[in-house]
Amino acid sequence: MTRQAFRGAIFHLLGDPDQGPAAAVVYEDGGLIVEDGHIAEVGSFIDIQPQINGAPLQRVTDGFIVPGFIDCHVHFPQVDMLASPGTHLLHWLSAYAFPAESRFAHEDVAAETARFFLDQLFANGTTTALVFATAHKVSAEALFAEAFQRNMRLVTGKVLMDVNAPAGISDTAETGYMESRALIRDWHGKGRLGYAVTPRFALTSSERQLELAGRLLHEHPGIKLHTHLSENHEELEAVHKLYPDCPDYFAVYEKFGLATPQSVFAHCLHLSPSEWARLGKAGSGIAFCPTSNLFLGSGLFHLAAAEAAGGRVGLASDVGAGTSLSLLATMNEAYKVGQLRRHRTSAFKLFYMATLGAARALRLDDKIGNFTPGKEADFLVLDAKALPLLARRWSRATTIEEKLFALAILGDDRAVAETYVAGRRVHKRDK
Ligand code: GUN
Ligand code: ZN
Repeated sequence: MTRQAFRGAIFHLLGDPDQGPAAAVVYEDGGLIVEDGHIAEVGSFIDIQPQINGAPLQRVTDGFIVPGFIDCHVHFPQVDMLASPGTHLLHWLSAYAFPAESRFAHEDVAAETARFFLDQLFANGTTTALVFATAHKVSAEALFAEAFQRNMRLVTGKVLMDVNAPAGISDTAETGYMESRALIRDWHGKGRLGYAVTPRFALTSSERQLELAGRLLHEHPGIKLHTHLSENHEELEAVHKLYPDCPDYFAVYEKFGLATPQSVFAHCLHLSPSEWARLGKAGSGIAFCPTSNLFLGSGLFHLAAAEAAGGRVGLASDVGAGTSLSLLATMNEAYKVGQLRRHRTSAFKLFYMATLGAARALRLDDKIGNFTPGKEADFLVLDAKALPLLARRWSRATTIEEKLFALAILGDDRAVAETYVAGRRVHKRDK
């Protein structure tokens, strides 16, 4: 049994801060005890001190210990083409995303990119992600293998895409089904890994492929469904033409049994009241991707509408349409989207959507998202020192909320001093 103790300021959330002030918990002089990669104790240092029992104690004198960030939607093969200016989603996909993804037929490309991508996630304080690979089986295998080696909680899957896409990045309904099944058998539940059946979106899968995606979900309880929903107006029109029998976009996924509590839909920008109500009722997760939605000019996410429908919302980078892997940078843009929607988002809420809220969106909140004893010890040390502007603002902040807000608006990977996965340090910022 290994036991470690940490002493410093600690912040985490026990619930949605909009539901009541008790959700946000701060220990100015806090203690965290980690046992075999899990949280054993959290509280005021004075209270947990008797439980340390000689375990090595690390002091965090600057900054905060917070739960690891959770990115609810990101494409690892797109790290080579982010910052590519498309006119809108469908043009951007065919001009940049699809060509970049074609390289992932090669195992060595997939393996090298997986290493780079996970290094970057850790440097940005992201300890769990729900990730799009490409349609190539080897791309998902490479990411699973790399995450497994790092003992990281990660969910991914090979993309299903059998129509309206170039041959080099397409599968067929049958090969997509068979390869997904093989990947589920080999990787789902191994270490901290999980599988997500990943039809790219309604435009790039035939009815047969979506039907088989539904079958995969049915045959493997516990796996996830990960796709895009209602991001762009041209996309909506094309979906309507392709599925004239469906009253709206969400109905396409409903038709094939893909609207489940284990499903996560990225974007959800242009949903009708009926779609919001059905999505909320389905209990699916929603990935809010502000940097991507602004970059591609796709639209402004309506957090209030999502929450009124009972939607579970987590933040997501959506790189490469998103412009940063930092969930702090993502909070910054999420706040601005809220301003344009006349919806003020608190600092606590921004952190909630990157930690416990995201864990709830992915239905992983029994394992990660905060420091409830028994959960996995994924956490960060956030510290303002490496950013002079933030450090100056931070030194004048008097409340925890002010400090967290400054971090969300001014912070990026430089504010991540250390990252821990299952109690093991996996990143330390260069001095
Ligand atoms: N819709 C279908 N594929 C994609 C993608 O790769 N990125 C984004 N942002 N939207 C999509
Ligand atoms: Zn995406």
